[in-house]
Amino acid sequence: MGGNGTGQSILVEGLEKRFGDVHALRGIDFAVPRGSVLGLLGPNGAGKTTAVRILTTLLTPDGGRAVVEGFDVVRDAAAVRRLLGLAGQSAAIQEELTGRENLEIIGRLYHLGRAEAGRRADELLERFDLAPAAHRPAKTYSGGMQRRLDLAASLVAHPAVLFLDEPTTGLDPRGRSGMWEVIRELVAQGTTLLLTTQYLEEADELADQIVVIDQGAVIAAGTSEQLKSKVGGDVVEFTVPDASRLGDAVAAVAGLTDGDPFTDQETGKVSVSIGDRGSEALIEVVRRLDAAAVEIAGLSLRRPSLDDVFLALTGHAAEESAATPGPPRRRGRRARQEAGA
Ligand SMILES: Nc1ncnc2c1ncn2[C@@H]1O[C@H](COP(=O)(O)OP(=O)(O)O)[C@@H](O)[C@H]1O
Ligand SMILES: [Mg+2]
Repeated sequence: MGGNGTGQSILVEGLEKRFGDVHALRGIDFAVPRGSVLGLLGPNGAGKTTAVRILTTLLTPDGGRAVVEGFDVVRDAAAVRRLLGLAGQSAAIQEELTGRENLEIIGRLYHLGRAEAGRRADELLERFDLAPAAHRPAKTYSGGMQRRLDLAASLVAHPAVLFLDEPTTGLDPRGRSGMWEVIRELVAQGTTLLLTTQYLEEADELADQIVVIDQGAVIAAGTSEQLKSKVGGDVVEFTVPDASRLGDAVAAVAGLTDGDPFTDQETGKVSVSIGDRGSEALIEVVRRLDAAAVEIAGLSLRRPSLDDVFLALTGHAAEESAATPGPPRRRGRRARQEAGA
């Protein structure tokens, strides 16, 4: 085993990657202590997959360095691969084979004996709630079951370090919470985990430390509490259908928080950070709007989202129309992607 004696399982320094004109990683730094979970959080195109592919030796960096359990991912790539088990977005699941057969084959690839490979397959199928479907072809599995089989496959070899690239993107809420449970169990057994996600809530649930990246650069790092304190806690959101009353609405709720409410002129949506005061603040918002005789629609109390974090960190919403003037680093990126450009 490697081990670099520093207690860091993963170390990333000044990591850079270009694809032609695209500067996918602009020199990112972070460290993941052994046995902890790092959430690498960022929107589409931030550079998350590029970082994971470099760390799992599938891609060579153009600058900086990355070390996993003491092994340099370029110089000691073979050693890193041995450490990792099958990592990345899609482990080599064969659709025609049953769940159990898939796991057994991987066990044999890792030189477990026949009996041991079978035992390990059964243990993992049990742990991932797949035992009842063990003898069905993987192609008959639901999306959530396939993700769990993927994750089980990456664990056949007991990796000390695991990389999960957006493990819950595209899953329904039930599939997502099932996956969270499984991940929590893993972590409880001491696995070092680097998890990428687009969801603050997911990083919040699972990560000890969060690194927020955007357009290839780290824009914030810290615990979920530290990040949320930048946002100012929970958010009350409502819409003012009558545009002429928007100013009155904002004035009514302005005194509630230290920061200014965020207003979207186009949709009439108002967001107010209310710290940790929860439903009490919600009631106060309603009372004040009522006193000001402002009619509202769609009142909600929610946890801060990734967009709120971006807003707090960059002063811009993560999603803006391409026409909105502002520094180019945030302008319209997601809007363009959603338009299919
Ligand atoms: N093989 C590639 N060739 C060209 N551009 C790429 C390639 N892989 C990623 N990119 C670009 O690099 C940036 C970061 O991509 P990626 O790491 O996939 O982001 P994320 O996983 O956070 O969505 C994006 O602009 C993406 O289009
Ligand atoms: Mg990705």
